[in-house]
Amino acid sequence: SAQLNDLAVRAGLKYFGTALGEGTINSDSQYAAILNDKTMFGQLVPENGMKWETTEPSQGQFSYGSGDITANQAKKNGQGLRCHTLVWHSQLPSWVSGGSWTKATLTSVMETHINNVMGHYKGQCYAWDVVNEAVSDDAVWRDSVFLKTFGTDYFALSFNLAKKADPNTKLYYNDYNLEYNGAKTDKAVELVKLVQAAGAPIDGVGFQAHLIVGSTPSRANLATALKRFTALGLEVAYTELDIRHESLPASSAAAATQGNDFANVVGSCLDVAGCVGVTVWGFTDKHSWIPGTFPGEGDAMLYDASYNKKAAWTSVSSVLAAK
Ligand code: G3I
Repeated sequence: SAQLNDLAVRAGLKYFGTALGEGTINSDSQYAAILNDKTMFGQLVPENGMKWETTEPSQGQFSYGSGDITANQAKKNGQGLRCHTLVWHSQLPSWVSGGSWTKATLTSVMETHINNVMGHYKGQCYAWDVVNEAVSDDAVWRDSVFLKTFGTDYFALSFNLAKKADPNTKLYYNDYNLEYNGAKTDKAVELVKLVQAAGAPIDGVGFQAHLIVGSTPSRANLATALKRFTALGLEVAYTELDIRHESLPASSAAAATQGNDFANVVGSCLDVAGCVGVTVWGFTDKHSWIPGTFPGEGDAMLYDASYNKKAAWTSVSSVLAAK
């Protein structure tokens, strides 16, 4: 039977992709076998390897070993690549977050970083997450060294620097909890409008979609949230999809609900012209960031910890096949 990327492409999406865990690919052959199958995953994104703390841990010292794991894997397998992420408050080395900068000196630091990292991967990235998670959960601009130094001017600055460094990749704003179409979504719309009003280039908005079983919005409501950004002339994508159980082990009823929730997310992308693809943030319950951040929660993926396809996998394949 057909696998997810093939089904997604047949349904009109550009790709169905996954994050690659750099610590996992060389230590788990079952993980590698599924990840390397381009009929299953047509695009890869590095879970950690292209972040600032990894690529420029001290000023001017660039390191690409970890990011190259994903880039090389994608190249070898004929898969696409999403690139993640340039300007983010988290996994930002302390020499940046704790520095005392003027606008001029921080601009130069950002320019050097963006030129080097985007330059290293030039021509390989379908898209770059240029600015990540700049809106806080209570829907104000997230505090960071960038906000402190520039105010909201760092949004347009980041996109302008990215465009100069690689003019041929799609430039994205990427965030979570945009799916609920609440105050945080309003603020992300405001961010896009600020960038556009400054005449800076922005191509897309990534909906991370770190969601919860039973609390995932309906397919129609998800589509409504996506359309707020396509209405501004942008493409959209689900970039980090996972749907976690809040209590474990999951009953079979909860597993079925998880399947419906996954189908609603993928279905909403199919319903919106301008939604280009879906990326899951990992694919097996064996390896996930979730228990580290939400103790006791998890099993948020399409495969169980023994690499059996879950109800969620079947639901995703069905919704893609039905298009
Ligand atoms: O690399 C070190 C390793 O040397 C050390 O032994 C180990 C001990 O804790 O830590 C390792 O670093 C961890 C890193 O992942 C690599 O595994 C960090 O502690 C851990 O905090 C880090 O977590 C990552 C998290 O981003 C950090 O913010 C997750 O793997 C990654 O899945 C997660 O991804 C983010 C997206 O980038 C943005 N959106 C939200 C998403 C989920 O939080």
